[in-house]
Amino acid sequence: MITRTAVKKKKSAAKKTTTKSKKKSKKPIATPKSNLYAELAMQLRALLEGEFDFIANVSNFAALLATSLPDVNWAGFYFLHGNELILGPFQGKPACVRIPLGKGVCGVAAVQCETIIVPNVHEFPGHIVCDVASNSEIVVPIFDGEQVLGVLDLDSPLLGRFDDQDAEGLNELATIFVAHEEHLEA
Ligand code: SME
Repeated sequence: MITRTAVKKKKSAAKKTTTKSKKKSKKPIATPKSNLYAELAMQLRALLEGEFDFIANVSNFAALLATSLPDVNWAGFYFLHGNELILGPFQGKPACVRIPLGKGVCGVAAVQCETIIVPNVHEFPGHIVCDVASNSEIVVPIFDGEQVLGVLDLDSPLLGRFDDQDAEGLNELATIFVAHEEHLEA
């Protein structure tokens, strides 16, 4: 049986999906998308400040993403319990509750410990349909150190909605969240 501790982080997902600039001395040009994620990072920190209830914080994190990111019809979390992912707080249509590790985009991302961007979900083998309106998806594993805690999942009705900037921004937000939750009350 695969347990939480059995799933190890291979490499930083953010690093894996980030396009490196050839001219390292120059700062990357700010784009509307990077500005949006910088703003979301500030808002997430503000939402989390002083609050250590896990369900409340995950719920607000999902709501922040769903109401701030354009063209997203589902945003939420699955958390790892033994050898399956179980649905956590989300915004969107009701979704499948349990996803075995290795199944669907979520289960593959959790096993591979990598962010997965799916430009067209209809071309992803084993994609699990939760909302027929979804055409593209991004799944970001959430780590506590080297262990996978679960995944952050976003769907869009647009084809090719998510790119490396989304991957980088969402990984940064997930990092902020986990760093805060490390101070959770028992
Ligand atoms: N499409 C996901 C299932 C979760 S829903 O999109 C909310 C998958 O293939 O893992």
